[in-house]
Amino acid sequence: MTDTAPLWWVREDLRYVGTDLHLGGVNLAHAARGSGTPAYFYSGPRVLANLRRLQGALDATGLRGRIRYAMKANRFGPLLTLMKTSGLCGIDACSPNELRHAVRCGFSPGEVSYTATSVSPADLDVLARNPETWINCDSLSTIRRLGAVSPGRSIGLRVNPALGVGYGENQLLRYAGERTSKFGIYREHFDEALALAAQVGLKVEGIHFHVGCGYLNAQLPAWREVLHACRWFLDRVPNPRVVNLGGGLGVPHVATDRALDLETWAGVIRETFGGTGVEIWVEPGDFVVKDAGVLVLQLNTVERKRNTLFYGVDGGFNLAMEPVFYKLPCEPVPARLRGEAATAWSPDALHPVTLAGNINEALDLWAENVPLPEMAEGDLLVLLNAGGYAAAMSSDHCMRAQATEHLLL
Ligand SMILES: Cc1ncc(COP(=O)(O)O)c(C=O)c1O
Repeated sequence: MTDTAPLWWVREDLRYVGTDLHLGGVNLAHAARGSGTPAYFYSGPRVLANLRRLQGALDATGLRGRIRYAMKANRFGPLLTLMKTSGLCGIDACSPNELRHAVRCGFSPGEVSYTATSVSPADLDVLARNPETWINCDSLSTIRRLGAVSPGRSIGLRVNPALGVGYGENQLLRYAGERTSKFGIYREHFDEALALAAQVGLKVEGIHFHVGCGYLNAQLPAWREVLHACRWFLDRVPNPRVVNLGGGLGVPHVATDRALDLETWAGVIRETFGGTGVEIWVEPGDFVVKDAGVLVLQLNTVERKRNTLFYGVDGGFNLAMEPVFYKLPCEPVPARLRGEAATAWSPDALHPVTLAGNINEALDLWAENVPLPEMAEGDLLVLLNAGGYAAAMSSDHCMRAQATEHLLL
């Protein structure tokens, strides 16, 4: 294997072999020759390894732990079927179509939890027809209307501790905090929510919270505060059975990020909920799929405009919205290097490049001033960390949604 130590993202299953980038043992340039571009590739083994690592951490809490993968992150059918056959997780769905899709991919309605917001009467009709699906209600309105169509049901209450954590200081990825958010039931309404549930014949058996996305080690002390604040809610539920910690576990995006320390993470859970006898559920999206996927694009334009070197590619922000929507960093790398990795990536061989998509919007820039090895028109470029919230959030803006998805096994 080539020496690629300076590349922070290199792993055993994501690295250059000679000049070519491989994901899960597959040469991405070869794979993209077959698929055409733009194309997403997802490593099935990496997804399963992520699930296993997380289940290991849950087991270390000493509490019974279950993973409900948040399929909003990536709903590619073959990937969901792989997860189902692995037996490693259930699903968290947030719309009737997600619930139906999970069932089509092999999950039983009882293996699906449902956590949604602004729930309509039509949504409730679907839920009433699936009594085995666990619902986390995030408003008094939902409790009142669910009780009317599905009385006798056990539910969780999504709570809002008015504290949030997310990727670094990024406020866009916080779902709770100082600013009043649409998600969950606040302390000041919680007793009323419990009373209302009892009145309409719903049994509250758990709490749920999801307070932000992308947290890493630096955010664990703040995440601990969140858990402590949520203990207040749990202690008011007469017979609690489940605490759902939501998703939000992050993955590294830049060289200075470190992978989440799952041992410390598990320790915080043990410290807060140990001895309560509850089951711990988590519903991660990104942690399971993000670093298992890449988006392969082709360079069609290499051109200097004034002092800026532009690389233009055949896919835009509509195929992976997070860099533009959430200002998340994006990591582009060549699929094939012109020379060995150590030379091609040596600092003096890199050029600051602005990477532009093919959408007619000024904001359609993947990255500005990103150091990249020399590339030419026709070369393939790989965007890392495209396994989550990329294809699933894509749009047909400019009628350019024709990317394909592929599961690597
Ligand atoms: C309720 C809920 N659970 C889980 C998730 C998954 O979050 P993540 O992909 O950050 O783990 C989300 C994402 O927005 C969510 O809204």
